[in-house]
Amino acid sequence: MIEATFEWVDIGGLSEIPPRGSRQVKVDNYAIAIFRTADDRVYAIEDRCPHLGGPLSQGIVHGTAVTCPLHSWVISVESGKVLGSDTDCVRTIPVRKDNGRILLRFPFYSEQVA
Ligand code: FES
Repeated sequence: MIEATFEWVDIGGLSEIPPRGSRQVKVDNYAIAIFRTADDRVYAIEDRCPHLGGPLSQGIVHGTAVTCPLHSWVISVESGKVLGSDTDCVRTIPVRKDNGRILLRFPFYSEQVA
């Protein structure tokens, strides 16, 4: 578990996630899914599918979306919205790259999906 004591927290190297891959990190017992796209963009969203709680970090990454491993809902990793739904979404987490490292911004609990 990572202690959220800084505004931007280093959660690992970009090279630790393969292109079109993902991993889960836990901050204060809050599961976050980190995604790396084929063109090396990085996104972070809540690691809990809005359908029945599936682990999105274990889904299939395609473009800027992930397909949930349980029942195949497709979720935008950019916006957190379930594609094809007007209402379902997951929380997005501010994330950036810096010299090959991935940083999450804290606190993020007040962030809302648009
Ligand atoms: S839990 Fe994700 S689609 Fe059902």
